[in-house]
Amino acid sequence: MSRDTGAFDDLLQEDRRFPPPADFAATAVVDASIYRRAGDDRERYWAEWAEQLEWFEPWRRVLEWNPPYAKWFLGGKLNVSYNCLDRHLAAGRGERTALLWEGEPGDTKRYSYAELHREVCLFANALRGLGVQKGDRVTIYLPMIPEAAIAMLACTRIGAIHSVVFGGFSPESLADRNNDAESKVLVTADGGWRRGTIVPLKENADEALDASPTVESVVVVARGGDLSEQTGVTMVAGRDHWYHDLVAEADPECPAEEMDAEDTLFILYTSGTTGKPKGVVHTTGGYLTQVYATTQAVFDLHDEDVYWCTADVGWITGHSYIVYGPLANCAQVVMYEGAPDHPDRGRFWDLCERYAVTIFYTAPTAIRAFMRWGDEWPAKYDLSSLRLLGTVGEPINPEAWMWYHHVIGGGRCPIVDTWWQTETGGIMITPLPGVTETKPGTATRPFPGIEATILDDEGDETQAGYLAITEPWPSMLRTVWGDDERFKNTYWSKWENIYFAGDGAKRDGDDYFWILGRVDDVLNVAGHRIGTSEVESALVDHPAVAESAVVGKGHEIKGESIAAFVTLKEGVDGSDALVAELREHVGKKIGAIAKPEMVVLTADLPKTRSGKIMRRLLRDIAEGRAVGDTTTLADPAVVRRLQKQHEAEEG
Ligand code: PRX
Repeated sequence: MSRDTGAFDDLLQEDRRFPPPADFAATAVVDASIYRRAGDDRERYWAEWAEQLEWFEPWRRVLEWNPPYAKWFLGGKLNVSYNCLDRHLAAGRGERTALLWEGEPGDTKRYSYAELHREVCLFANALRGLGVQKGDRVTIYLPMIPEAAIAMLACTRIGAIHSVVFGGFSPESLADRNNDAESKVLVTADGGWRRGTIVPLKENADEALDASPTVESVVVVARGGDLSEQTGVTMVAGRDHWYHDLVAEADPECPAEEMDAEDTLFILYTSGTTGKPKGVVHTTGGYLTQVYATTQAVFDLHDEDVYWCTADVGWITGHSYIVYGPLANCAQVVMYEGAPDHPDRGRFWDLCERYAVTIFYTAPTAIRAFMRWGDEWPAKYDLSSLRLLGTVGEPINPEAWMWYHHVIGGGRCPIVDTWWQTETGGIMITPLPGVTETKPGTATRPFPGIEATILDDEGDETQAGYLAITEPWPSMLRTVWGDDERFKNTYWSKWENIYFAGDGAKRDGDDYFWILGRVDDVLNVAGHRIGTSEVESALVDHPAVAESAVVGKGHEIKGESIAAFVTLKEGVDGSDALVAELREHVGKKIGAIAKPEMVVLTADLPKTRSGKIMRRLLRDIAEGRAVGDTTTLADPAVVRRLQKQHEAEEG
């Protein structure tokens, strides 16, 4: 395994235990019997969850497993937007709050389920009017505004496949995704607010569209407020349409398309170890079943809850736990557009107080930032409405867990540390808040109905090794868009018929899983996945660069930050200005999240005799550690030179 696990051994000494508070357990949605039910008959158990959704036609068979291809709920027909909206209207819950949205400048919108249904139907018909048919791809490149959820649901209503691209990605990244998915329509906005500045999405989209030949139509949401007054966007006649114009003309009647359980629901691009990001494919019935079940059981969702997940819809967390899981459960969902520190560092707590949030789900990187900002910010607000806290995206260090528990949760809220991935679609390893005794830093046990273990290279069970999922699960990815080979190689080639998650893990005496982080060349920067190879390609794309090697470096807030070692082309002189230019270049190629924090210009990179870059050594250097074994290096002097240079730069 590539990560140093020394510090981790200390974690297993962690013996603070937090049993579920008795009053919480007494009213919890699920109790411990759920594990027995799942264990007795896994397929029956998942079918029972699926039965709580509404199906136009029942399935004939729960699971067909032809490794690595799984089909769930074969022959079943359903529609996701119908289950997230119409089903609740039919139950007389149309007036219930669906979305409580707040923009960064403080503008607000509230949608009842009936209102959300109307908006979704209108936009679904608008998409149909642009020629979008079942199976067509629609790229969604929006800020965190209600139209993001509306556009996603509208796609599902007519059977179009959405590909949501995070608004922080660059034009080039957007074009790559448009092209890989061969998207027909792009939905964007004039802009969005982030930390008091405007993110010019339409401008970025225009640049991407020059290189996106399949996109025939562009829909532009006017973000509204000051922003729309400030941004003068250029609309291309015949191609670009204002969202509000299309919707104004659309029919509000839009019957939901009957989709097969295995029809593709969406594609979401994520970074891997090699090449360009891959389009993870999720389908309809299994995905909805697992996100529905996990939202209800993991977040202990009750009618009176006000639920807030702080992710962006551009990531899987936003798909599964802002939009589909909560809405399928008829939850009251808070959605916030902007940054946690705008206009000040109390913004999240201000939102929690004003909306009386009861369930709060965020990332460890955010928790570490809050810790650093100081207890005085949360102390200014009344957080007594909170009753459950969640984390996702990276391992949470026990100090951050304890801080979250005491300062945000007032010592009374259970914490659910949820492990899962873009590929798994839904939560896989997690406490159940009314059942599981938690310990700071562990995601505890597999969700009922999920079979996980820890294996070594040979596929034998071990206490410390690679996290593996041994049985198919409903919301698993079905393939990589257009690339079955990559699907097989990435996830199914390490062992036979067992899913390789790419994470290292250990198991403790309680059989709890402790996730160690990635074992491959995928970085986790502030909870965002970035492939080292993507950053390397972006660097080598710069005319001054000959070669580069990118590694992760421990970071107090972000968990990991990016360190790049770069050799320049013959005759190019290194300078601070060039370093700054290289960072900008990566930002322009991929997006600001991928900018290396540290760039080291070097005459050589440490390589083995066969020419493989020794990343392990580069990580040691970047983190200022004693360098490990260098005997396999072609030229050990390279490392000494690099170390000296790095010490001089740091010192
Ligand atoms: O390394 C694991 C880490 O995030 C990776 C998945 O990233 P992504 O597909 O972007 O999805 C993030 C949101 C689901 C995993 O391979 N990860 C996620 N949750 C946890 C975690 N690591 C430790 N503990 C977690 N709770």
